[in-house]
Amino acid sequence: MKILVTGGAGFIGGNFCHYMVDKYPDYDIVVLDALTYAGNMETLKPIINKSNFKFVKGDITDRLLVYKLFETECFSVVINFAAESHVDRSIENPEVFLKTNILGTQVLMDASLKFGVKRYHQVSTDEVYGDLPLDRIDLLFTEETPIHTSSPYSASKASADLLVQAYYRTFGLPMSISRCSNNYGPYHFPEKLIPLMIKNALAYQPLPVYGKGENVRDWLHVFDHCTAIDLIIHKGRIGEVYNIGGHNERTNIEVVKTILRELNKPESLIKYVSDRKGHDLRYAIDPSKIELQLGWKPKFNFESGISQTITWYLNNQEWVNNIISGEYQRFMEFNYK
Ligand code: NAD
Ligand code: DAU
Repeated sequence: MKILVTGGAGFIGGNFCHYMVDKYPDYDIVVLDALTYAGNMETLKPIINKSNFKFVKGDITDRLLVYKLFETECFSVVINFAAESHVDRSIENPEVFLKTNILGTQVLMDASLKFGVKRYHQVSTDEVYGDLPLDRIDLLFTEETPIHTSSPYSASKASADLLVQAYYRTFGLPMSISRCSNNYGPYHFPEKLIPLMIKNALAYQPLPVYGKGENVRDWLHVFDHCTAIDLIIHKGRIGEVYNIGGHNERTNIEVVKTILRELNKPESLIKYVSDRKGHDLRYAIDPSKIELQLGWKPKFNFESGISQTITWYLNNQEWVNNIISGEYQRFMEFNYK
């Protein structure tokens, strides 16, 4: 089996490649990644020389390049992780989100149809459902919850998600879609909440918490996202959507305090800053469908996962230092000014 993994130099795509290259030595894994600020070859270092792995630099919106690659490689499965993924950046500059997340998805689906791919899997997100109220903990997102987005990022991911469904119904694209909750774990770019808080705490720098820190996210260790996608591409039904989440809801301030406690750093480092525009209040996934139909079960709960993640960052500070480029500094100054 030959699998195309787009966005494989990013956080989740990179973890997925590590997992697949080790688990399936007889599969060929090919990464297509444009190496934007979020893509990092250091993430692929442990597998770059493996015989069942190949890296191709390129943009998913480049139709010519994508068609050539599909023609040469004859993929049986395509998994689209490639995206602009940070909500705050989409508030600063939405355009590239529309281009990559929507038009890039279209190019990959056109190529999949043209070159007879057996399964196209779209890595979507729980953000397509919008948010839930903080005072209704009985409410969870199911696969039937209406799409209702808040940020340019989530609107672009929802557009892609709907387009994938349209290609299934109209052109018979053999697709599946997963909508996962917030991931954390190794190789997470330090612009997102958990790796940013770990990095700042280690450097005794302020930990910027938006608003009052009361917003809730449903955290899943990236390893468990990888096992879920592995199951879906092998056993998931064509045309279906699967929610992925492990019932690990935490307020942001709880997450930040947990990190400080684990690192033995003072809570005085917490700094409350202006809230994100249009900030989603609460995400919470009902994963019953993937659990019951495919037998998926997460390995980590939040306590074991955050502790493993912190240990990884303590042991891999060089990885963080390598990716904090000039562009990273510019965005951090802009966002937290
Ligand atoms: P990331 O930002 O860490 O990585 C994105 C990768 O895509 C990078 O390697 C980047 O270079 C590449 N990329 C960007 N534009 C590209 C283009 N035009 N052509 C080719 N490659 C391009 O993102 P992530 O957090 O790993 O998220 C991966 C996917 O999972 C995204 O589709 C995201 O929407 C989805 N998702 C993320 C989470 C989360 O918590 N991080 C949760 C659910 C779903
Ligand atoms: O739910 C899935 C989504 O999770 C993915 O689709 C996105 O790609 C991914 O980035 C993530 O989106 P969030 O906006 O939830 O993640 P982020 O880490 O940016 O923020 C998590 C929460 O922490 C959110 O409520 C905003 C808050 N926050 C974030 C940052 C970066 C802060 O309070 N301070 C910060 O500095």
